[in-house]
Amino acid sequence: MFHKFARKLKQNRFVLNYSRMWPFVKPFWFRALLSTIITIPIGSLDAVIALALKPFMDTVIMDQGGSTPFDMPLWVIPVFVVFFTIVQSALDYASSYLSAWTGGKITMELKKKLYSKLLSIDQSYIDQNASGQVMMRFNGDADTACTGLLNNIRVFTTRIFSSVTLVGVLLYTSWQLAVIAIVVLGTSLYPLTMIRKKIKDIVARSIVVGGAVLTSFNETHAGSKTIASYNLADYQKNRFFGTLNQAFKLVIKNTQRTAWLSPMMHIIIAVGMAGTIWYGSYLITSKTITAGDFVAFMTAMLMLYTPIKNIGKNFNAVQLSFMAIERVFEILEMPVKIKDKKNAVALPPIQKEITFENVDFSYVPGTPVLKNVNLKIKKGQTVAFVGNSGGGKSTIVNLIPRFYDVDAGSIRIDGHDIRDVTLASLRDNIGMVFQDNFLFSGTIRENLLLGRFDATDDEIHQALKMACLEDFVADLDKGLDSYIGERGTLLSGGQKQRVAIARAFLKNAPIVILDEATSALDNKSEAIVQQAIDNLMKDRTVLVIAHRLSTIQNADKIVVINEGHIVEEGTHQELLAKKGAYEALYMAQFHKKEVSEKEDDK
Ligand SMILES: Nc1ncnc2c1ncn2[C@@H]1O[C@H](COP(=O)(O)OP(=O)(O)O)[C@@H](O)[C@H]1O
Ligand SMILES: [Mg+2]
Repeated sequence: MFHKFARKLKQNRFVLNYSRMWPFVKPFWFRALLSTIITIPIGSLDAVIALALKPFMDTVIMDQGGSTPFDMPLWVIPVFVVFFTIVQSALDYASSYLSAWTGGKITMELKKKLYSKLLSIDQSYIDQNASGQVMMRFNGDADTACTGLLNNIRVFTTRIFSSVTLVGVLLYTSWQLAVIAIVVLGTSLYPLTMIRKKIKDIVARSIVVGGAVLTSFNETHAGSKTIASYNLADYQKNRFFGTLNQAFKLVIKNTQRTAWLSPMMHIIIAVGMAGTIWYGSYLITSKTITAGDFVAFMTAMLMLYTPIKNIGKNFNAVQLSFMAIERVFEILEMPVKIKDKKNAVALPPIQKEITFENVDFSYVPGTPVLKNVNLKIKKGQTVAFVGNSGGGKSTIVNLIPRFYDVDAGSIRIDGHDIRDVTLASLRDNIGMVFQDNFLFSGTIRENLLLGRFDATDDEIHQALKMACLEDFVADLDKGLDSYIGERGTLLSGGQKQRVAIARAFLKNAPIVILDEATSALDNKSEAIVQQAIDNLMKDRTVLVIAHRLSTIQNADKIVVINEGHIVEEGTHQELLAKKGAYEALYMAQFHKKEVSEKEDDK
């Protein structure tokens, strides 16, 4: 019986959400409590004022100077009222201040947790959720959750205490009338219980639409050149206006579903008041209560109306904040698949080899991308991956730093399954250069130091030299401290690429992965970037994906991948001799090259 009750209580939304938030409130609990405790007098002072009306009415107005029940001078009550109001206001200020402080702190802690989660979340989550959704759910929801939560505690405690004391006044002045009033006010709160159901799906859709708005801004910023060059301004406008319109419709729908609740309460309360006035007049004429009782009663009841109405309004906000808390914890509690095992060991620098053993992999369950891949890459070798676009080359190399985990089989480095070693040590072993490298807003130096924070100036200059960036940086007014813009927008494609290569140099990892690192470049920048890449490949274990086959002819091994299968492997000469898939690819490119050279000759 008791257990059943305890379980029910645990499942109760209020209890559940407040207990989940507790760890975040805990460090500041005293101030949070204080901020609500001092609201209690604020609420209950209303009752004092209402109560003070009774002697005032009965003695001053009705008896006109007869005996007063408390026997006090006439100025006492007005002074009392002013004094209490001043105390009430001061407490109100203190409470606002304290709750802003604790609220700010709690929100901050929650956001720290969420951001840490974002940094450790699986790559597949990032793949599947647009940037705007991430902003909504990792930032916006924390705001909604906390602001709502604290405001609500505050408003609720004030309101509830003032309601309780006012109900006390009602009972004290006339219990008969009080019964009517309580039943009516209680009934008026009933529609509130329906709010959650009514707004749940609208709120869920609002989050998606809100995220779409943010994603639009992000894409308009990042894709400004594509938008300009394809004349997409009108198209983008229409899309964005459509999204705004959706948001507007949701707001209206929300209003349609909830705005009638407040007027509805109003009507129920009006009926109650009418009943009280009617029955109250009867009680006065039958001398059951005095006129003073009646006035005090009506005042208390009118005063009670405001907090009740506010509880109604607040209830909506409470539901919104509860839903936000639920979304926040959905994210915080989301299991992360790619993380360190309990007894993960540090992976020492590679000694022998990287092996793929019967590896199956799919991004989406049921759509296999790699099928039974077996592969051996010896330390110090350069292995090149070629094949049709979409065949799975990038996927293979992305499995090595565990951006994703294999579905079946294993990837081993010197016999260690990469899932048994710490992520940090695994990733310390690997340097990566992609086609489109991410540079952070800041200076060249700041970006290079991301490779290794304690690199000396000498090491930085060595890296610049190896990445063929020395002259470029020397020509800049501010040299290494030149600002490169968000995502390196102030640099050319080849320069960006070489900054990324220099960063990899500083990292100095024994395994290097190059995924189409020169594909996005014109011939001239390609030559210089290729030089930088050749430097980076020296004395390392290299996995290289190259678009132009001419760049990988000297690889120790070339692996041809089509449709997720390894179809051929061997050296350039061996594969040419086989006259298979590689030869076909090679001839296609070779032929194209001959044609373009002939055209150049014309
Ligand atoms: N993040 C992802 N989520 C789902 N599918 C993906 C993802 N990345 C790539 N794919 C799919 O996996 C297949 C292999 O892609 P990829 O390894 O990038 O090919 P390649 O590098 O050989 O051109 C393609 O069909 C591609 O559409
Ligand atoms: Mg690729």
